[in-house]
Amino acid sequence: MKSLDDLDVAGLTVLIRADFNVPLADGPDGTRVITDDGRIVAALPTLEHLRGKGARVVIAAHLGRAKGERVPELSLAPVAARLGELLGTPVSLADLADAPALVAGMAPGDVLLVENIRFDARETSKVAEERQALAAELAALADVYVSDGFGVVHRNQASVTDVARLLPNAAGRLVHKEASVFGSIMAEPARPFVVVLGGSKVSDKLGVIGNLITRVDRLLIGGGMAYTFLAAQGLGVGDSLLEADQIDTVRGFIEEAAQRGVELLVPVDFVIADRFAADAATEIVSADAIPDGWMGLDIGPQTRELFASKIADAGTVVWNGPMGVFEMEPFAGGTLAVARAMADSDALTVIGGGDSAAAVRILDVDDTKFTHISTGGGASLEFLEGKTLPGLAVLEEEA
Ligand code: 3PG
Repeated sequence: MKSLDDLDVAGLTVLIRADFNVPLADGPDGTRVITDDGRIVAALPTLEHLRGKGARVVIAAHLGRAKGERVPELSLAPVAARLGELLGTPVSLADLADAPALVAGMAPGDVLLVENIRFDARETSKVAEERQALAAELAALADVYVSDGFGVVHRNQASVTDVARLLPNAAGRLVHKEASVFGSIMAEPARPFVVVLGGSKVSDKLGVIGNLITRVDRLLIGGGMAYTFLAAQGLGVGDSLLEADQIDTVRGFIEEAAQRGVELLVPVDFVIADRFAADAATEIVSADAIPDGWMGLDIGPQTRELFASKIADAGTVVWNGPMGVFEMEPFAGGTLAVARAMADSDALTVIGGGDSAAAVRILDVDDTKFTHISTGGGASLEFLEGKTLPGLAVLEEEA
């Protein structure tokens, strides 16, 4: 995989695939406002490097799942504005059809953002020829392609894979960093290698658990998925989230962990509530005492201590998925405890993207205390599943 340092881009036009799929909320007067610009900030090192070298910078990115339709709420206009602020230079936004004329008029250091590439149905088409036709239009805009949208490297899409085959290519700073962090964890983790998994559904994490159970020393399970593990051990879960159809699979994981000598830890206590609401009545109970009519919404204080002790002496800690409903203050303590334990540890600490990365920011944990906070939710999970990520594999192909 080539890096930016292998490219001489002075005077060239560089097409970059970035992941600007940022969360938006409704703002005043029908506008949309960015609620977390982490992914835009993460693209700056590559963009600044290229501008500093005198390249013209054209960016392709998506927002949401537009499915080939022009969806006004999914315009990249708020991203263009924020990126312009961060770079300290105006960033023009243009439809792909208008881009060739605009690119012709660009000066070195100028930045053009192409409007949401998923407004074009060919971007995500399953038909290779359709994707390739869009890729050819994108490639015609530039001399070189830089892949820097780590959050989309698990997608086989026109602006991620097909276009990389049409131009000299390299990984941007972000993709390079993410790929090397995850690559080294999967190849040679410092031990004990501890993985903390949470989130609501165990069915979303079957591939990750199946792969990691062969590699880790400890697997700590929290969040909504923990209740299926309790049920697999024959415990009642009251009204907690339960995926009954996964109980057998989970039982298989528990057996495999025992055979392999992997410490698989499930919560020993919970914060339970009488309904799913921030102002619900709450209690702390042990894992074998969740009454009917109550639901577990966070790991309890003993579990927080247990998990923190298992993180404290780790060599590597990877965390994906919150421990409870952290968006509601009474159920944020477990997620906060894991984040703090990781922040305090001397281990190499990695936070998978998505909800856990958002939790660290929302709960105001010092994000400089982690070795790496991934910008990729799905992409980091697929990495942990041991899958080949098409957007990375294409960068290894011979030209
Ligand atoms: C993400 O938010 O995980 C990436 O931008 C990928 O988005 P997608 O799941 O819609 O492909």
